[in-house]
Amino acid sequence: MYDLIVIGAGPGGYEAAAHAARMGKRVALIERGCLGGTCLNVGCIPAKTFLRSSKLFHECGQAASYGVRLGSIEFDMPAVVARKNRVVDTLTKGVEGMLKRTGVESITGHARLIARNAVQVGAERYEAANILLATGSRPAKPPIPGLASEGVLDSDTVFALTRVPERVVIIGGGVIGLEFACFFSEIGSKVIVFEMLPNIAAGSDLEISSRLLHIMKRAGIEFNLSAKVLGIDGNTIRYAASGGSESSVSADCILNATGRSPVVDGLGLEEVGVDFSPKGVKTSDLGKTNVAGVWACGDVTGRRMLAHAATREGIVAVNNMFGKKDRIRYQGIPSVIYTHPEVSSVGKTEEEIKALGIEYKKSVVPMAVAGRFLVEHDGGTGMVKVLAGARFGEILGVHAIGDASSEFIVAAAAMVETEMCVSDASEIVYPHPTVSEALREAILGVH
Ligand code: NAI
Repeated sequence: MYDLIVIGAGPGGYEAAAHAARMGKRVALIERGCLGGTCLNVGCIPAKTFLRSSKLFHECGQAASYGVRLGSIEFDMPAVVARKNRVVDTLTKGVEGMLKRTGVESITGHARLIARNAVQVGAERYEAANILLATGSRPAKPPIPGLASEGVLDSDTVFALTRVPERVVIIGGGVIGLEFACFFSEIGSKVIVFEMLPNIAAGSDLEISSRLLHIMKRAGIEFNLSAKVLGIDGNTIRYAASGGSESSVSADCILNATGRSPVVDGLGLEEVGVDFSPKGVKTSDLGKTNVAGVWACGDVTGRRMLAHAATREGIVAVNNMFGKKDRIRYQGIPSVIYTHPEVSSVGKTEEEIKALGIEYKKSVVPMAVAGRFLVEHDGGTGMVKVLAGARFGEILGVHAIGDASSEFIVAAAAMVETEMCVSDASEIVYPHPTVSEALREAILGVH
């Protein structure tokens, strides 16, 4: 009998398992695929490794403006994939070692709930006082005719590419679509994005996403907004353009980036009576499902599909199941789109603040107010926007576009999380010269 069985070894599951083991609990972690889940194997880490290579390749083309002259350069796709594999391998081994050190028992196989305190893996039955579902998500397959055909790549299969495609069509202008649009464009592909909403990066602060759209268009990426993809036939995509007229376009690479679906099938959820829908397993802010002893964290809940949110949700669930009060506060969870330039956000967008009828003040400064930004990015653009309550000056949201913003957004997250006021935040000392000084200037600019 275990204290905890975790199903799924992504950043939600493995961190939760290790946390419980460090608390002295007997823990088993069951995984049917690879340790590390989507994030390590086909998500965050591989995508950022690809983006590192494409950025370097692109920057080589600009080297002369930094006083560095290069000969001919080439993007070697197989070598990029090989490097990605090395990075993934190193990190996976790290997770494996960490689980061993903390005393988590790893079990390989597909787990299915057979009771509120028992799971079946092949012929074996395992029992535990608590079960944490951390089965993640997979690329969504909306009912678009032809989308499921083998020729259409998704964020799992795109990493197997062996050559630079000439023309890429991306269905979906969300996080995955934008990051890959940036990657393909930087390595020389012609990129066309279809997004059925009027804006890219839905849910982002509009001023920031509009700036991103402008920058990506300037880089040569073609965007079809308010355009819905209707079907795919071989290499041809049929779509309804913004005015409603139907048209088609061809490409040698088609990427489905229409979202991700929680993995809720084959888990025995119906049999045990766990409340779920195709949108995910329903959980409270403590990580509880409706069935006592069954908990869930990460993408399977469909709440915030972010690796770091999954980790926090898993730890909150473990703390609560073993009697330590804890609660996740989604407001302070930052998010980043790793395009070039990066987009980093935390807290409410200006549109959300307006919709809630909150009186607010705002400050927007160009990233170039930080000397370091100019040093690092010749001709680069970016901005930081701070939104604060009109009366008390509590920081409600921070949204930034510009490289390196992902490294300082955590400071803004601490401000939003603690409802820090502009007057207190203004006393924080920033290291000079760093790009983070743009955040300082934006805070000082809130009146
Ligand atoms: P998403 O939900 O962000 O974007 C999908 C987009 O596809 C939507 O804007 C939707 O309107 C559009 N779409 C759907 N059907 C369409 C059609 N027929 N024609 C045209 N457009 C269509 O989903 P995405 O980008 O696939 O990402 C999935 C999840 O993974 C997200 O929750 C995201 O937060 C997470 N993720 C996070 C990353 C990060 O934090 N940097 C990186 C990658 C993924």
